[in-house]
Amino acid sequence: MGNLVDAHIYLTFLLLVVWAHKQLVRGAGLRTEDLVGDTTDVISHSQGFVARLEGLLVLGNNSDISLRVETVDADEVKVIQAHTLVLSLQSRVFDEMLRNRNGSMLVLRETAECTAVFDKFIRYLYCGELSLQLDQATSLHRLATKYGISSLQQGLTRYMSQNLPSDSLGGHVVGWFQYATTVGDTVLKHNCLQFLSWNLSSVLQSSEWPTVSVELLMTLLQRSDLVLKSELELFEALEIWLTQNDPDSLTAENALRLVRYAMIPPRDLFRLQRQSPMLTRYLESVRDLLYMSYQFHSASPLQLAKFFEVNCNLFVPRNYLSPVWGSQWIISNPSRDDRSSSFQTQLGPSGFDSSKRVTWNALFSPRWLPLSMRPMFTEQGAMPPLRSDGGNGAGRPRIIITPATSSADFAGVSFQKTVLILTKQQGKLVVRHVFSFHQSTEEVDFLSDVDLQQRTSEYLVDGALHLHIIVKPIYQTIIASKK
Ligand SMILES: *[C@@H]1O[C@H](CO)[C@@H](O)[C@H](O)[C@H]1NC(C)=O
Ligand SMILES: *[C@@H]1O[C@H](CO)[C@@H](O)[C@H](O)[C@H]1NC(C)=O
Ligand SMILES: *[C@@H]1O[C@H](CO)[C@@H](O)[C@H](O)[C@H]1NC(C)=O
Repeated sequence: MGNLVDAHIYLTFLLLVVWAHKQLVRGAGLRTEDLVGDTTDVISHSQGFVARLEGLLVLGNNSDISLRVETVDADEVKVIQAHTLVLSLQSRVFDEMLRNRNGSMLVLRETAECTAVFDKFIRYLYCGELSLQLDQATSLHRLATKYGISSLQQGLTRYMSQNLPSDSLGGHVVGWFQYATTVGDTVLKHNCLQFLSWNLSSVLQSSEWPTVSVELLMTLLQRSDLVLKSELELFEALEIWLTQNDPDSLTAENALRLVRYAMIPPRDLFRLQRQSPMLTRYLESVRDLLYMSYQFHSASPLQLAKFFEVNCNLFVPRNYLSPVWGSQWIISNPSRDDRSSSFQTQLGPSGFDSSKRVTWNALFSPRWLPLSMRPMFTEQGAMPPLRSDGGNGAGRPRIIITPATSSADFAGVSFQKTVLILTKQQGKLVVRHVFSFHQSTEEVDFLSDVDLQQRTSEYLVDGALHLHIIVKPIYQTIIASKK
């Protein structure tokens, strides 16, 4: 008993020192501002202080509780000499457990992965910091969630969100998405899903792809904002998934029906129909879609509009990176001045249009002003100062993409433009934003909150803005029937 009281007194003393130290620093800050000339110095030993707390955990001096960590489905047991004051201070869950404890031992049951990082976790409670590797993130997050350490939980969510791209071909974002779903971390789940959707090609090529759950597979296949090379790439990845998972036929059919066959050129469709084992096996389930796709490939948009009453995603392109549909555009020093560029795309995804090209002019303005805010010449002939660089109302980045020429071929098609913004995360390029607009709404927010003036802006990679422009031809009958 005496031991227990000692420990309390000792720890209370240490914590009081920290508190007093903080007050001192705060007070010192105030004083130097208020009383000029009255020099105040700060004596800070917080690093050494944390080291002593760590020593307390390592040596177990004055410990008043033993944590016995048992591993579910395994014999491994870890015993840690801890201190009730620290545990209660950091975690309401521990506080509650300690109140109801039965002697000086607390038995905890954890999975093997969590047991493996339990030392790190407890050390965080004593020192407020931890170092970790990618494969330890979910176990630590699970412990932080279970014991209600919200600061650690949020820190890990942020860490994971910033480390979604993977160095290896293995990948981990699928596993993290699945983990976030089970544990109910909506922020992490959203960030994982966004990465999966916008950097899909890297995931399709990873060894993690076949581990995608049925739910996640369906969620992805339904999205029009997927960023990937082509629809063919998606079909081939789906084949791999189906081969490795061998789901029931209803699941396989549902998945195969979400492929946008009309976006695959007819020559590839013919080949798939003959050579793909999956397409052969489930041909009856997608025959209608293939038939509509061949019809789509054989006629002009106007002919199609006369006879087709289609209202389905089959005819809506996703964000394809293939050069047929757009172009990369790297703008160095984007805050400096207006830039222009031009590129070509195929008129439409239909085989009927495969030989027709549209030339696009793209104009980027770092500080575009709406008409109502543009400078007007006054009677004196002077211009009021307006281009106050960077300030409020000084305009915002804008991009305009227009066809170089008009053509009768455009009838029946509208062009949706999508601009991808790529930024660097942990040294790797990732798609960070996807902006879509029709010509009529080109003034809509494009990087409106982003500071491009600073070279260190997180939207710039080595001072350059990395864009990828995609033009998506959309048949107008589809748009009309959607409303
Ligand atoms: C902690 O315990 C060890 C041995 O158990 C002892 O050598 C050391 O002096 C103790 N430290 C303190 C600060 O009491
Ligand atoms: C408390 O200890 C008693 C006897 O040592 C034991 O029978 C009981 O199961 C324990 N309860 C808990 C919650 O550990
Ligand atoms: C994300 O996608 C972009 C566009 O395809 C690509 O340039 C980049 O390398 C991808 N990043 C990762 C980490 O896969």
